[in-house]
Amino acid sequence: MLKKFQLCLLVILLLSCGFLYQLFLKSSCLFCLPPYKSQQGPEALLGKGRSIVFLETSERTEPSPLVSCAVESAAKVYPEQPVTFFMKGLSSSLQLPPNSTHPAFSLLSAIDNVFLFPLDMKRLFEDTPLFSWYTQINVSEQRHWLHVSSDASRLAIIWKYGGVYMDTDVISIRPIPEENFLAAQASRYSSNGIFGFLPHHAFLWECMENFVEHYNSYIWGNQGPELMTRMLRLWCRLEDFQEVSDLRCLNLSFLHPQRFYPISYLEWRRYYEVWNTDPSFNDSYALHLWNYMNKEGRGVVRGSNTLVENLYRKHCPRTYRDLIQGPDGLVTQGGGSR
Ligand SMILES: *[C@@H]1O[C@H](CO)[C@@H](O)[C@H](O)[C@H]1NC(C)=O
Ligand SMILES: *[C@@H]1O[C@H](CO)[C@@H](O)[C@H](O)[C@H]1NC(C)=O
Ligand SMILES: *[C@@H]1O[C@H](CO)[C@@H](O)[C@H](O)[C@H]1NC(C)=O
Ligand SMILES: *[C@@H]1O[C@H](CO)[C@@H](O)[C@H](O)[C@H]1NC(C)=O
Repeated sequence: MLKKFQLCLLVILLLSCGFLYQLFLKSSCLFCLPPYKSQQGPEALLGKGRSIVFLETSERTEPSPLVSCAVESAAKVYPEQPVTFFMKGLSSSLQLPPNSTHPAFSLLSAIDNVFLFPLDMKRLFEDTPLFSWYTQINVSEQRHWLHVSSDASRLAIIWKYGGVYMDTDVISIRPIPEENFLAAQASRYSSNGIFGFLPHHAFLWECMENFVEHYNSYIWGNQGPELMTRMLRLWCRLEDFQEVSDLRCLNLSFLHPQRFYPISYLEWRRYYEVWNTDPSFNDSYALHLWNYMNKEGRGVVRGSNTLVENLYRKHCPRTYRDLIQGPDGLVTQGGGSR
């Protein structure tokens, strides 16, 4: 009888230990500094292969309203998935970055599933074909380095951990129901502004090999959209799209331009215009705003009723409220993203 009682007690003790441990795991964030919600490194977070990844390869640590909107909208569309934002400008030490008081930075840090990390390229390129390339070049002699380093980093991150990469000028509007995909920017032409793969997909490995083999920083996009397009041509027989359906090739999908580029880059100003009725974008998962075309620094003007204002209001309400409805009501958004 006593033995049974002791056994019972032991079981209860073990169960409660387990429970407390779980509780500790869940609440471990209480013990860490604000922008790094957990003390796990990015590897642990990305390891589940379902992360949405954003990159900032310049030294900027103050996200522009558009960058803030892109990250917030992804967090909203993928509430159960980590949204990771790697910034070159964050030092590798786990300290608060100097300018963490910037409104957009704290806005993003406060979102439960958004995680900000320093971007350590050398470490990222380890165990990939990009490592020897990266350690041999003299960075200050490369042309278009912000873009080239971003092109390289996105391939390595998604190859290593899987997930979806997005440019910081992509506003998410509904979940992408694909695991391995490239996004067409036009017929037979792939972008690299958004793509997704399961970890260790052979396509991305071959992209990294091709990156190094045909590296030429003088040709803009040679390591970006051009690379994706030439690799896709090697893997698949590309055909024109029929109506608005996607193409399938081996185990990857080539998504119709409507999915992310319903407004083409030549028409990018349409986002900053007032429409009679806002388009439904029913055939799209996210909208690429072509920020690199926006040399004029167009932004969201409060009360202007432009398409972009209505998109912010609906898809990134916190950014809209905090940054757009600020004292002067006008925030421009040049620089940073492409
Ligand atoms: C931090 O912000 C201040 C004022 O906005 C700026 O002068 C300074 O250069 C910024 N520092 C860094 C490291 O970004
Ligand atoms: C890299 O290039 C710059 C500019 O040409 C030069 O000043 C510097 O010495 C080079 N660094 C190395 C390590 O070769
Ligand atoms: C996709 O297909 C390629 C080529 O057939 C193969 O090498 C690769 O392992 C496949 N990847 C996945 C994740 O199924
Ligand atoms: C878009 O989808 C919504 C909701 O499913 C629907 O109400 C609307 O009619 C659709 N619009 C178009 C143009 O297909």
